[in-house]
Amino acid sequence: MYYLDRNRLQTSTEKLKDLRIIVIGDFILDEYLIGEVNRISPEAPVPVVWVRKEKITLGGAGNVVKNLSSLGVKSIVLGRAGKDEKAKSLLELLSSENTDWEKNFLLQSEEVPTILKTRVIAGHQQVCRIDKEELKPITKKEEDLLIQAFLERIDSSDAVILSDYDKGTLTPRLIQEISKICVDKKKIVTVDPQVSHFFLYKGVSILTPNHHEAGKAIGRKLETDSEILQAAKEITEKLSCPSLMITRGEKGMSLYLSSQKEIFHIPTVAREVFDVTGAGDTVISAYTAYHAAGLNQLDASVVSNAAAGVVVGKLGAETVTPEELNSSLQSMGTLSG
Ligand SMILES: Nc1ncnc2c1ncn2[C@@H]1O[C@H](COP(=O)(O)OP(=O)(O)OP(=O)(O)O)[C@@H](O)[C@H]1O
Ligand SMILES: [Mg+2]
Repeated sequence: MYYLDRNRLQTSTEKLKDLRIIVIGDFILDEYLIGEVNRISPEAPVPVVWVRKEKITLGGAGNVVKNLSSLGVKSIVLGRAGKDEKAKSLLELLSSENTDWEKNFLLQSEEVPTILKTRVIAGHQQVCRIDKEELKPITKKEEDLLIQAFLERIDSSDAVILSDYDKGTLTPRLIQEISKICVDKKKIVTVDPQVSHFFLYKGVSILTPNHHEAGKAIGRKLETDSEILQAAKEITEKLSCPSLMITRGEKGMSLYLSSQKEIFHIPTVAREVFDVTGAGDTVISAYTAYHAAGLNQLDASVVSNAAAGVVVGKLGAETVTPEELNSSLQSMGTLSG
């Protein structure tokens, strides 16, 4: 059993509100149309959903911003939206979160719409999902603008999160330049990677893929602890990364530290699971925030694992507060001192 020092946790928790974390990546709108089905359409053999409730929330990198806000951390947003009505919804939702309004920088591209994923739900069942998106990579000029914006903000930030949903914001050039700037400036830079971009994130502080993604990246299935360890060694070597976190669903997560060539397997605590959507966003947000606030990598991982544990016990892509985290760690018996 691994113990986390109560005072260290408290000291870092108090620092969260002073942090600025840059969140760069693919911002998405998640829309929900919730209704009832009482009949089949006369036009085609499909149900007619009578909409009773509508909801729109931040998804993708936006869910990372939500998670950071809930922890009391201020985000600086860098990304892309379309030049359309939905961009206003995205900006409005971002403005209701804890972001640095003067420093946020969203490209408004004529080439793509603001990404919108609409779920039609009837009686707790998803009837269909409608995606509005164009997966065009940002242009060379847009890359220049984002890199410039990043350079202007990096020095006043405590850490950087790259939230890659492969929607075209994080191009290979952007990934490589941003990673290099962070490495040169010795900034904490954490990445939730896409498999297709996996080996572009050279030298970053940590990658947080799930075990399927890490397995795909190296071309084999990762199930056992020893398979995870071997994969972690190979991946960190290939990327020249100091560490790697592989999240493993109900098995928790494994943290590999290259300098010690050591792996730590952190189990989940038994709890009722309602919805695992967005747990990965919670992990990277909590890990980055608590590490930037002073916890070492293992302590920050334990905290992020507990954070994900709280979130999977809630319905919908949800977030966690420092108070909830504290009581969860307390009830798990993880706190000492
Ligand atoms: N069934 C579960 N029971 C308890 N904890 C869970 C469960 N599923 C996920 N978690 C927690 O959430 C963390 C991240 O989950 P997972 O490995 O599924 O990430 P992911 O697939 O990237 O998630 P996402 O769907 O958000 O991308 C795990 O490390 C664990 O702490
Ligand atoms: Mg994920």
